Amino acid sequence: MPQIIDGKRISQEIKDELKEKVAALKEQGIEGTLAVIQVGNDPASSVYVNNKKKACEYIGIGSLAYELPEETTEEELLALIEKLNNDDKVNGILVQLPVPKHIDEEKIIKTISPEKDVDGFHPENVGNLVTGGKGFVSCTPAGIIQLLKRSNVTIEGKNCVVIGRSNIVGKPMALLMLRENATVTIAHSKTQNLKEICKQADILIVAIGKPRFITADYVKEGAVVIDVGIHREPKEVDGKVVSKLCGDVNYEEVAEHTSAITPVPGGVGPMTIAMLMNNCVEAMTRE
Ligand code: GUN
Repeated sequence: MPQIIDGKRISQEIKDELKEKVAALKEQGIEGTLAVIQVGNDPASSVYVNNKKKACEYIGIGSLAYELPEETTEEELLALIEKLNNDDKVNGILVQLPVPKHIDEEKIIKTISPEKDVDGFHPENVGNLVTGGKGFVSCTPAGIIQLLKRSNVTIEGKNCVVIGRSNIVGKPMALLMLRENATVTIAHSKTQNLKEICKQADILIVAIGKPRFITADYVKEGAVVIDVGIHREPKEVDGKVVSKLCGDVNYEEVAEHTSAITPVPGGVGPMTIAMLMNNCVEAMTRE
């Protein structure tokens, strides 16, 4: 039987540790505030933003929510970011992505002060991750490292295959595994012989964005499998069509061949906000 890596429990454990840290900082007169900006009203983004606000409340830091209309101009958004950059009470700034098409996402990311970039998306923070310097790390990959460490998975010396090369997950994930002394391969949609490459992995991290894509023939017996995907799938239960969540991995088929695996939901998902909170607490104490 594989070890089921419980992201819900581990994220709760991290939030509880942070809650204690925040209480201790408060006693020293140090308080934290995260500014969360959402442009437009994409329902999925609204759910994420709401969960971020709730997590701030749970660990005991303040949150400022800016819910801006879809028509907000790039200039208006940049001006708000500059104002928050200069506000000493605000330690963390986050713009929920995606932003509407008329706004240049890269420009937005570059305008957030690197010291307040709790998402870890600013090129200065990404650069520090590459060169081994200090800086904020993208939350989902940082959460996966915590899942592995807190489940006693050895990373050093292992063959790790990351499928996906996005700036938010794939690239920082590969760099973090390298920092932990894994031997890392980055695969993606154009990779040839993907099955053979995945079969070499002791740790397979899947962020390919295709529901149930990874079947048992991609997985080495006894590998650790981390599923970053989340998809809503219609499913018929007792003659009724209900919506069910699934990942990039065909869990039912793959699980029995692994030594450890993350479920969807309840695996990687809850870790992102826990690590965002970790970055917010770090922002409160950084020089
Ligand atoms: N959209 C999807 N994931 C993220 C994230 O981690 N941060 C932000 N700001 N937007 C997102």
